[in-house]
Amino acid sequence: MALTDSTKLISKYNVPGPRYTSYPTVPHWESDESFPTLWPSLVKQFQEEQQKEGMSIYIHLPFCESLCTFCGCHKHITKRHEMEEPYIAALKKEWLLYLDLFQKKPLLKELHLGGGTPTFFSPENLSDLLNFILSSCEVSPNVELGFEGHPNNTRAEHLEELAKLGFTRVSYGVQDYSEEVQKVIRRFQSFDTVKTAHLAAQEAGYTSISHDLVFGLPKQGLTDIKNSIELTLSLRPERISLYSYAHVPWIPGLGQRAYDESDLPQPEEKRALYETAKGMLLDAGYVEVGMDHFALPSDSLAIALKNKALHRNFMGYTTNTNRLMIGLGMSAISDVWGGFAQNVKSVKEYEELVHSGIIPVFRGHQHSQEDLELRTIILDIICHFKATWSNEFEQKPFFKTIQSKLQELIEDGLCELKTGELIVLPEGEAFVRNICMCFDAHLNAKREQSQRFSKTI
Ligand SMILES: C[S@@+](CC[C@H](N)C(=O)[O-])C[C@H]1O[C@@H](n2cnc3c(N)ncnc32)[C@H](O)[C@@H]1O
Ligand code: SF4
Repeated sequence: MALTDSTKLISKYNVPGPRYTSYPTVPHWESDESFPTLWPSLVKQFQEEQQKEGMSIYIHLPFCESLCTFCGCHKHITKRHEMEEPYIAALKKEWLLYLDLFQKKPLLKELHLGGGTPTFFSPENLSDLLNFILSSCEVSPNVELGFEGHPNNTRAEHLEELAKLGFTRVSYGVQDYSEEVQKVIRRFQSFDTVKTAHLAAQEAGYTSISHDLVFGLPKQGLTDIKNSIELTLSLRPERISLYSYAHVPWIPGLGQRAYDESDLPQPEEKRALYETAKGMLLDAGYVEVGMDHFALPSDSLAIALKNKALHRNFMGYTTNTNRLMIGLGMSAISDVWGGFAQNVKSVKEYEELVHSGIIPVFRGHQHSQEDLELRTIILDIICHFKATWSNEFEQKPFFKTIQSKLQELIEDGLCELKTGELIVLPEGEAFVRNICMCFDAHLNAKREQSQRFSKTI
C-alpha cells in the first residue's frame, strides 16, 4: 500500500475506541446500585457450568513506591510497607467469600499477580497469600502461574519463593530505554537493571519471561524504539508485549497531565513506531500474536495462536480458554462469562467491605443473549483476525447495522465479509479495534466516546 494511502487510513480511523479486553467494554456496563447484591447469585448460577473447564484467578496488588506519569493502571502510591499485611488479610477474606459460593473445590488453571507492583510485597507475604489460595484449590497439572515484576525491585528472593510455588512466568515492565522518554514518564531503569532481573528469572527456572514495551510514549521517536527493541532482543525473552500507549488524561489519579499532547508522536509517527518494532521482531524470529503481542515460536502463546486456542480476557491475551475468572483485590474485575463485576477502587473501602463480609464489587454487567453472541465474535476477531457465525445470526435485525457499519472498512480493503464469516485482511490488522467496533452494539455517539477510550492507533 502506498504511504499516502496508509496515512489517509490512519487519519480516518484513528478515533477513540475500546481495546476489547471485554465485551461489553467497561464504560458500557449496565448496572445500578442493586448490582452488588445480584453479583453473588450470578457467580452461583454460572460457576458450576464454567468450573468444568477450570478457572483463573487474578490478584491485584496495587501498591507502587512512585508514580510513573504514563501509567494507566489502578494503583496506590505509597512507601508504607506496613500496608502489605492488612491488604493480604483482606485478599484472603475475599477469597473465602467466593469459596462459600462454589459448590466444590475449584480447579485452578491460571493465576496471575498484577498491579500496581506485585514485587512491592515481600516474598514472605506473597508466599503466605499464595499458599492460602493454592491449598484451597485443586491445582491443574498444567497450571500457569505468573506475575508482573518491576525490574527495579524484583529480587532473587521473589523469583525463588514464587518458583517454589510453581511460578514459571514473569513479565517485566520495560516501557522504553531512552533517557529522554524515561525522564518525561518518570520511570527510570537501566538496561543493566532489566538484564539482572531477566537473568535472575532464568536462573530461578522461569520458562516464559516477558518484557512489556510501549509505543507512542511522549518524546519517543524511531531511534528510541529501535534501540529499545535491539536491547530487548539481546536478552531474547520468550514473549514481548508491545502496547499502544493509551492516552486517557481525563481519568482522575493518573499523572498523564505531566506532559502535553504535543509531546506525543502524531498518529502516523505512532504507527511507524509499531511497524518498525514489528519488522525487527519478525526478522528476529518472533511470531505476532493478536494486536500487541509477540512470542518465540516455541512459547505457548505462539502455539495457542497456531492451534486456534488463543483467548483474551482482562489480563490480555492468554493460552487458557476457560471462561471463569475471579479477580481479587482493589479494582479487580471478575468474569463468569454471563456477567462481569469490578471491585471498588480505594484500598480503604475495599478492606472495609471485605471485613464486613461483603464481596466488594461496585459495578458490573449481566450479559444478554445478544451480548454473548457478539462477545464471541469480537473475541475471535481480536484473537484470530477472523470470525464465523450461523445463518440465524445473519437474520437478526442488528446484523443489518453491522453490515452497514462494515461497508466503509470493506471498501477501504481492511476486511472481507462473506456469508457466515468476516476476515481481517493484512492491511486491516492495524485497524482491528475499528473492525470490532462495527460489532459493538453498545457503542454510542462519537462525542461521548472521546472521553471514555484511548485512540485506536
Ligand atoms: C500494571 S503495569 C505493571 C508492572 C509493574 N508495576 C512495572 O511497572 O513494571 C503493566 C504494564 O502495563 C503497561 N501500561 C501501563 N500504562 C499504560 C498506558 N497508559 N498505555 C499502554 N500501556 C500501559 C506497561 O507496559 C506496564 O508495564
Ligand atoms: S508502571 Fe508499574 S510502577 Fe509505574 S505506576 Fe504503573 S503500575 Fe506502578
